[in-house]
Amino acid sequence: MTAGRFPENFLWGTATAAHQVEGGNRANDWWAWEQIPGRIKNADTSDRACEQYERFTSDFDLLRSLHQNAHRFSVEWSRIEPSPGEFSQTALAHYRDVLQALRDRGMEPMVTLHHFTNPTWIAQAGGWDAPETSEYFARYAQRVTDELGDLTTLWITINEPTVIAYQGYVRGEWPPGTRNLGTAARVLVNILRAHWLAYERIKSRHQDIQVGLAHHLRVFAPARRFVPQDRAVAAAFNRVFNETILKSLRLGRLVFPLTLAGRARGPRHSQDFIGLNYYTRELVKFNVQYRAELFGERMLPADAPRSDLNWELYPEGLYRTLRWLEREKLPIIVTENGIADHQDALRPEYLLSHIAAMLRAIEAGSPVRGYFHWTCFDNFEWAEGYSAKFGLIACDPLTQERRPRPSAQLYAQICRLNALPASVELPPATQQPVEPAGPTDLR
Ligand code: FCB
Repeated sequence: MTAGRFPENFLWGTATAAHQVEGGNRANDWWAWEQIPGRIKNADTSDRACEQYERFTSDFDLLRSLHQNAHRFSVEWSRIEPSPGEFSQTALAHYRDVLQALRDRGMEPMVTLHHFTNPTWIAQAGGWDAPETSEYFARYAQRVTDELGDLTTLWITINEPTVIAYQGYVRGEWPPGTRNLGTAARVLVNILRAHWLAYERIKSRHQDIQVGLAHHLRVFAPARRFVPQDRAVAAAFNRVFNETILKSLRLGRLVFPLTLAGRARGPRHSQDFIGLNYYTRELVKFNVQYRAELFGERMLPADAPRSDLNWELYPEGLYRTLRWLEREKLPIIVTENGIADHQDALRPEYLLSHIAAMLRAIEAGSPVRGYFHWTCFDNFEWAEGYSAKFGLIACDPLTQERRPRPSAQLYAQICRLNALPASVELPPATQQPVEPAGPTDLR
């Protein structure tokens, strides 16, 4: 690797999730959730999303013209298995076409099997709180890799286990809307079991397939550096949110506090690579009123540059997280990293500073093999609806017009050079007015 350049064959792409871009996914728990008044900002629904189920070929043309050589997307379980054990050949054939379309354009596909949505029949049978879901997931994972495994080697079983547990079972802001720490822990156990079962099935049938998870890791720092209670809650957050799953996967058994919530074992080292979703850091302040959240009130530094969703821009966190992950002794792929920024005012700086942080980590020895920016097109951003604009390319939910933002061109330059450009002219960063620090959504 020449100084300042990324390793040979580095993957440069963008990431999406089926429910956020496809449109027409009505047989899953998110669709049902969207119908409940007040759950989604502006009463938006995923009905059309980016209509990518139909528009994928022209969308991939556009991404290829922007020099991306890889693409991460998810397949929708509720389309593939609309009722228990009944697999849709039409849906599987569709995803073959999607994979082939990427291959035809010289783009390396990465497939996620589960990105937040559960088929209605799974949700009705208890969703991730039901132990049987793990087995159902493994059967689905086996079927999909049997059918599509010849078209790509990079597979993610489950996207962001801790976010599923936190948003759906601690905060109750995502389906199924539960608020109970014990249930959240059980859900994590069932998700781990699902990964373990799927990993064993896939690897015993397809040795060349590389299986990982996409982990959402955040930096949690004490709000007041010298207050021991703040340090203790920040440490607890790091342990529970960032370490527990990774350690359980490394050891092939549950670690505390998951041991309190159930039983499960799996093979040791059941990840072939680490998928890292990194967005931001949060400060944590001890507050007795936050019992349900381990006594931690999450906040932002008052003067921090922040996104439209109030997430701090903290590129150093990507560097630190990558270095911290070296202990796993596995290749790393940044499976998500991005910013909600409707004006594209901070995104160029976000891109450059995070990619520079990643390069610095690589030069120090971090085994990073690729980077997928979240995301290519503005899409259905879960409870935020269409209000949060994460796209390098604007996508109007009404007209479906795609309009690359300046940062799409900047990213294209990086992808083409396999390096950071020597000189870049950044549009001046428009600093948003400083709002009082407050809790943020844990994604
Ligand atoms: C991640 C999710 C992704 C998107 C981004 C902004 O946590 O995996 O679907 O919502 O956040």
